[in-house]
Amino acid sequence: HTIHYHKAVASTQPLAKELAEQGAAEGTVVLAEQQLQGKGRLGRIWHSPYGKGVWMSIVLRPATPIQLAPQLTLLTAVALAEAIRSITELNVGIKWPNDILHKGKKLCGILLESAAEEQRLKYVIAGIGIDVNLGENDYENELRNKATSLRIEKGAPVDREQLIEAFMMKWERLSDLYDQQGFEPIAQLWESYTISLGQRTLITTAQEQFYAVPLKLTERGSIVVKLDDGEEREIFSAEMGEV
Ligand code: BTN
Repeated sequence: HTIHYHKAVASTQPLAKELAEQGAAEGTVVLAEQQLQGKGRLGRIWHSPYGKGVWMSIVLRPATPIQLAPQLTLLTAVALAEAIRSITELNVGIKWPNDILHKGKKLCGILLESAAEEQRLKYVIAGIGIDVNLGENDYENELRNKATSLRIEKGAPVDREQLIEAFMMKWERLSDLYDQQGFEPIAQLWESYTISLGQRTLITTAQEQFYAVPLKLTERGSIVVKLDDGEEREIFSAEMGEV
């Protein structure tokens, strides 16, 4: 893979997008020591201090139909969970759709941005932020209860290069599996790592907020939830838990 390495950037996402526009191959990576304007989901800021995390964006060129793009998010989350488990031995879990948590606190986030052309995905940029070696002092008061780093959870620093290498290997293996056998085996792995199913939780979509029990993952990458009145609903994009 070609890796574009930077000391400091605003965000690795637009750089990867630019490379993709110029025809960069699948698996091209943009990596930075620091992001000055790291982007999170829902327009949030992603705190990306120098040298302490993995802040990277990968160019994907999937054959996936547009409406199935959420599958790629779940695939990325599985690769991350497996890489983190193998390198740190922390028993991390996936919160739907794509946060990686340890003991209820968030360690990583994934931001998928896609460009479409005539109803097909032209490319997808998978942005991955892993809080690797941040210390307690790197978190503001408000974040401290919600976010954590591998180092804090493990009680020892974690090698970022090893982690990136493990992630790229897992990601490649899962992409091959996905190309050959479709989403089913990926969904099974996701379900084995998730902490999101079976517990009544607050769901916030762009339109509304309600409590429901997430029941199952669909082959589209969405999730079916059961409302208190028994109604079942399919959710494609939402936040789970208190926001
Ligand atoms: C989330 O809100 O959970 C997603 C966070 C994604 C952060 C990563 S860090 C590398 C890439 N560049 C960005 O600006 N954001 C993503």
